[in-house]
Amino acid sequence: MRRLAESPELIGEDAPVDPRSTYAATKLAQEHLASAWARQTGGAVWALRYHNIYGPRMPRDTPYAGVASIFRSMLERGDAPTVLEDGHQRRDFVHVTDVAAANVAALSTPAPEGRLEALNICSGTPHTVGDFATALAAAMNGPAPVIAGGARPGDVRHVTADPAKAREVLGFHARTSFAAGVAAFATDELREPPRTMALST
Ligand code: UD1
Repeated sequence: MRRLAESPELIGEDAPVDPRSTYAATKLAQEHLASAWARQTGGAVWALRYHNIYGPRMPRDTPYAGVASIFRSMLERGDAPTVLEDGHQRRDFVHVTDVAAANVAALSTPAPEGRLEALNICSGTPHTVGDFATALAAAMNGPAPVIAGGARPGDVRHVTADPAKAREVLGFHARTSFAAGVAAFATDELREPPRTMALST
């Protein structure tokens, strides 16, 4: 469950949660479920709060993936990436290889027994969505982004987080820079999106 900020400061795990969309609410519900399990059984849970993951093997050509793969798919078609709002909304784009490393660290680091501990998995260096679109378009020699305005229902202006706790307890820090990660993403292999299941009558 990621923290949502009205201003682009870095938000720690203990800040009050306020899910604004059904998707965000389901993430928090998973934490509640795992937390109840830990209390009931003495189990130990790291709840990894992934931020905006991007990198190789994102699904292509689907609106259900993150904005990184949406922009990549548009640029591959020769279209300009369409940036919602004014493009200045901030996200923490974290590379998939760093997220994988965080998972390995969590698996090999015992969590405190009987409770859930949430950890932000992020770079700690937010960027604007407009900057992501501009950098990817440049790396792909594609058309400059178009600022489209508008927002999707449930969208949050800024989503940024403090990685200090994950660094302290897991020794995790994101190693892939924004510049290197976005440049590589211009040519990273993508995968086909999951097929919609056909219903037979
Ligand atoms: C993610 C979830 C969303 C959930 C939210 C809260 C995904 C794909 N999105 O949203 O369902 O409600 O966390 O937990 O998992 N954008 C554009 N152009 C586009 C698409 C998006 O500019 O074509 C912008 C959006 O306005 C947003 C940003 O890109 O500001 C990031 O969008 P997205 O990748 O969907 O992630 P979240 O907003 O973090």
